[in-house]
Amino acid sequence: MLGLRRAGSLQIRPVGPFDLGRLARLHRRCFAEPWSRADLAHLLAMPGSFGLVARLYEGGLAGLDALRGVGFAIARVVRDESELLSLGVAPPWRRRRVGSALLLAAMERARAAGAGVMFLEVAVDNQSAQDLYAAHGFERVGLRPDYYQRADGSRIGAFTMRCELDRLPQRPLPATAAPGLDGPRPISS
Ligand SMILES: CC(C)(COP(=O)(O)OP(=O)(O)OC[C@H]1O[C@@H](n2cnc3c(N)ncnc32)[C@H](O)[C@@H]1OP(=O)(O)O)[C@@H](O)C(=O)NCCC(=O)NCCS
Repeated sequence: MLGLRRAGSLQIRPVGPFDLGRLARLHRRCFAEPWSRADLAHLLAMPGSFGLVARLYEGGLAGLDALRGVGFAIARVVRDESELLSLGVAPPWRRRRVGSALLLAAMERARAAGAGVMFLEVAVDNQSAQDLYAAHGFERVGLRPDYYQRADGSRIGAFTMRCELDRLPQRPLPATAAPGLDGPRPISS
């Protein structure tokens, strides 16, 4: 019921065929080495892959054109294991639990598809993402030296992190993030 949706509420739903442009724009806002629409299409076409997009309802008549894409997650399930391939939240919307809601939704969906564990790689200098993952049960299980290549050609290592999905509390996919998503966060740093 679009007319009853509360401004500031967050919707997380699977990426559809018309979301590739939105996904590419969001990825570009989150990473210095952006993935193209073709890269994303290729990734999402791999067996077991899925994408989620977080959209914020900003008010408006019947909700039309009032859903702003604020974040995304891409993951892949292969048999009983899954991998988080990418997660990003556009800068004005960070620290509002959008990343947490996307991560939890990806974990739920992977578990529903039969995965008992989720792995991910995170750059060794990306402390904010490491904190987010640790807060949701991920533990460091390895180090991959020179894993990522940066836009300037330099290389940086990545930690591999792992989380048992069986320990997730049984609950439906989160449809709403924490309260307080009522406007973009000013970028101060
Ligand atoms: C990492 C990222 C997805 C987090 O999204 P987010 O919506 O801001 O995350 P949340 O609001 O759900 O944060 C949950 C917790 O993660 C940790 N965290 C997130 N961002 C943080 C930051 N900048 N500094 C310190 N801790 C941070 C905190 O523990 C936070 O809880 P708190 O706000 O109660 O302290 C976002 O910063 C981002 O898109 N970064 C650029 C892309 C990226 O690095 N993706 C991950 C690649 S592996």
